[in-house]
Amino acid sequence: MKIAIGNDHAGVEYKNELSKYIEEKYGYEVINFGTDTNDSCNYPEFGEKVANAVAKGEADRGVLICGTGIGIGISANKVNGIRCAICSETKSAEYTRLHNDANIISFGARIVSIETAKEIVDTFLTTEYEGGRHQIRVDMIKDIENRQR
Ligand code: RB5
Repeated sequence: MKIAIGNDHAGVEYKNELSKYIEEKYGYEVINFGTDTNDSCNYPEFGEKVANAVAKGEADRGVLICGTGIGIGISANKVNGIRCAICSETKSAEYTRLHNDANIISFGARIVSIETAKEIVDTFLTTEYEGGRHQIRVDMIKDIENRQR
């Protein structure tokens, strides 16, 4: 499993700690698309890079971090095929995998603690999509993308 990770200046420390956590706990390859300095930068760049990696199949899942998780998550959701869930707790992370087949998770380094972030990542990586009745809804999301072309 390959995990694309990305962040703006607000999420450098979270990115580093979570990358290590994912590599050590799961043995997954983590591909870093984020900034590595605390210099102010623009989150859409990193949301797009991670989203493209997931949409093209270069990574299986994505993890995004900015101050709130919102800007970078909104950016990722502009890429076709991306279902990025902005989560501040594990219940949402669980249900976005079960029902939405979310392929990217996003959260805010200024909103959630690093311990909660690790729990969100655990839930995101270990919860399987339910499919079934949810597939028609996921297909409808794809239909919206196709109507935008
Ligand atoms: C950067 O200051 C901040 O705006 C950004 O990290 C994020 O919170 C935007 O949604």
